[in-house]
Amino acid sequence: MTGSRPARAVPATGRALPGDRSLRTHPCGTGYPVGVTPFSPDAPARAHDFSLSSADDGLAALGAWRELPRVQQPVWPDERSRAQVFDDLRAAPPLVFAGEVDVLRERVAAAARGEAFLLAGGDCAETFADSTADRIRNKIRTILQMAAVLTYGASVPVVKMGRMAGQFAKPRSADEETRDGVTLPTYRGDAVNEHAFTEEARIPDPRRLWKTYTTSASTLNLLRAFTNGGFADLREVHSWNRGFTSSGVGYDRYEELAGQIDKAVRFMDAIGADFDALKVVEFYASHEALLLDYEEALARIDSRTGEIYGCSGHFLWIGERTRQLDGAHVEFMSRLRNPIGVKLGPDASLDDALRLIDRLDPEREPGRLTFITRMGAGKIRDRLPALVEGVRDSGAQVAWVTDPMHGNTITSSNGYKTRRFEDILDEVVGFFEVHQELGTIPAGLHMELTGDDVTEVLGGTGEIDEEGLTRRYETLVDPRLNHQQSLELAFLVAEMLSRR
Ligand code: PEP
Ligand code: CO
Repeated sequence: MTGSRPARAVPATGRALPGDRSLRTHPCGTGYPVGVTPFSPDAPARAHDFSLSSADDGLAALGAWRELPRVQQPVWPDERSRAQVFDDLRAAPPLVFAGEVDVLRERVAAAARGEAFLLAGGDCAETFADSTADRIRNKIRTILQMAAVLTYGASVPVVKMGRMAGQFAKPRSADEETRDGVTLPTYRGDAVNEHAFTEEARIPDPRRLWKTYTTSASTLNLLRAFTNGGFADLREVHSWNRGFTSSGVGYDRYEELAGQIDKAVRFMDAIGADFDALKVVEFYASHEALLLDYEEALARIDSRTGEIYGCSGHFLWIGERTRQLDGAHVEFMSRLRNPIGVKLGPDASLDDALRLIDRLDPEREPGRLTFITRMGAGKIRDRLPALVEGVRDSGAQVAWVTDPMHGNTITSSNGYKTRRFEDILDEVVGFFEVHQELGTIPAGLHMELTGDDVTEVLGGTGEIDEEGLTRRYETLVDPRLNHQQSLELAFLVAEMLSRR
């Protein structure tokens, strides 16, 4: 163990713009109620040192999930190779740090109180091949643009999070896939096997877990460089739009908004405002904690407190298919200190929700637990109210986030797995309506999107139709909003948020 060496990790910013309503509510003008860590470099996230010993007794208990029923785990064909990768990962440096994770927990708590809004976005499944600088930058730019739209339009600080730097494993509805009479194991994400439809490609290979780690590390490296090095500075608001398709409603509205932000920034400059805080931006990494071998190997003990942090990403979530109360995933995640999410589909009962709270957030700690609902546009108005009401009455303080993607997946008549933009929007509208009626807080948005000009989701003002899907359909798993559709959605959500 090394001595204590506080270092600035992901520094903070997001200084409120003129018109931010929180500016008016804080006595010190920081934009936050007393007691809440403001988005400000004055209260930077701190990295702490870790015990990296694989023999640490505190980490041994983490293996308890191995005794429990578990689903969606690959059967690694070679135990020796799996054990070797596990040891290598356990000896490797953590990808994220306890101090950053703690700050994010506070941010999520602020979102749950309605003092911020959480925006999570990225691919359904990252791939090794697409983890290139250009594609990563385009995703980051898209999320920054959406965040600018939400912040400026709705006067609320936005907590920015990528489904990124770790989203390489997928739960699947079937263990096998059949094509032309040939049946092979299903593709479970680049962390497990290869997408190509051959017997060899589909064999789970634990060395892919190491590649998951190194690809996540290089993605995070770029992400940290972009968000700490001035690229994400709000004064770059115009440049984020450069290189994207230069026409379309989302694009035009964005250019207009960027002009307004520019004007506000010039005004602040003229009156001598200090812009240092704009240079660095908090940006968090999140993924589904699906492969417990990987997640366990990347857990570390915070030497300050002896507590266990999942260090594969800042925010980790449990999927709809792995949230069994007596299952391995809930048991494993209950031992981590991170803010965690649980997906809730249309069949989730209030009892499920309350028992998940008891298992995962027994202390009722603000920011600890996020419920990410994915009910489907046709069901959300019907199913969500009982959950939100019951959870509110139990006294728990969860953050409610909408995932308007996974309940709205369809197959087009020409055979593409797709979604309709109007269904996605309708689920978001339903989510806001339910919270409005109950007087509760819609705390965030969880999206599958890409910064590229793909054609995977039907509709939007670009009017992608079924024929259009054939143009540039690239996803290996679920369909993503393209850059223009993402911006369009952000403008629509900003309007809803401003009425929150
Ligand atoms: C996902 O987020 O990609 C996913 C598989 O979601 P869910 O667990 O909600 O089905
Ligand atoms: Co998906």
